[in-house]
Amino acid sequence: MDHRPIGVFDSGLGGLTAVRELEKQMPQESIIYFGDTGRVPYGSRSREIITRYARQDVAFLRSFDLKAVVIACGTVSTTAIDVLRSEQDIPVFGVVEPSARRAAELTRNGKIGLIATRASISTGAYERAIHALNPGAEIFPIACPLFVPLVENGRTQPGDVVIETVVKDYLAPLKAAGVDVLVLGCTHYPLLREVIGAFMGQSVALVDSGAEVAHAVGRWLSDHDAVAENGHSGLHRWCVSDSQQGFRELASRFLGRPVTEPVELVDIEQY
Ligand code: DGL
Repeated sequence: MDHRPIGVFDSGLGGLTAVRELEKQMPQESIIYFGDTGRVPYGSRSREIITRYARQDVAFLRSFDLKAVVIACGTVSTTAIDVLRSEQDIPVFGVVEPSARRAAELTRNGKIGLIATRASISTGAYERAIHALNPGAEIFPIACPLFVPLVENGRTQPGDVVIETVVKDYLAPLKAAGVDVLVLGCTHYPLLREVIGAFMGQSVALVDSGAEVAHAVGRWLSDHDAVAENGHSGLHRWCVSDSQQGFRELASRFLGRPVTEPVELVDIEQY
């Protein structure tokens, strides 16, 4: 048993899709969330900048006594996980391996679509992880740089002509290729599940990278006797690097519940 909190971070609010699943699966776990809302998006930045930001995010989280760190961000998971793992003495989870495992399990025709930020796609990390499990899989990667700003601005609902047009424009080649699995390789994208699902059709399984990393954390905690005691309700701490009010307003949409706990402002450049 281990009552220490889990540290979770993302460039902004997308990582809350992982927290939502962690809360659902393991309500007894305490979570410290850092959203780098002052510097989002990461997905259009260079490897050097993403790595520097990610190191600062982890250094902030490690100012708490944690049992694990969750990189609830596709961009950091694809770009900087090896560096972060080599520098940390506690487990560091990323979204790539769990999502790749799920995609490899789900595909029937071996055609897997992958959507993520520009930075994530350019690393080839998802392809490598899927091919390690299913060398014959055909992978169709597409960078979708407009999705994160649209999601952060609340343009996620079916019937919203802006998001529907952008989804169609990005995903038409995947539909034409006949993929039967689509990896939502950025943790912001699960908020577009309805619009993406409606466009791709019911026969295409969607892999939610935030939910998959949460499942991987859950498995690891139980295998290592590191879960917090059942029956207790975990404490949550929300930390951001810009507008606390902005976070509070948008976060409930990602989390599926209102944020009632205080939201703290962090000067991330100090770390
Ligand atoms: N949630 C991040 C990801 O999974 C958002 C990307 C960004 O900051 O551009 O990649």
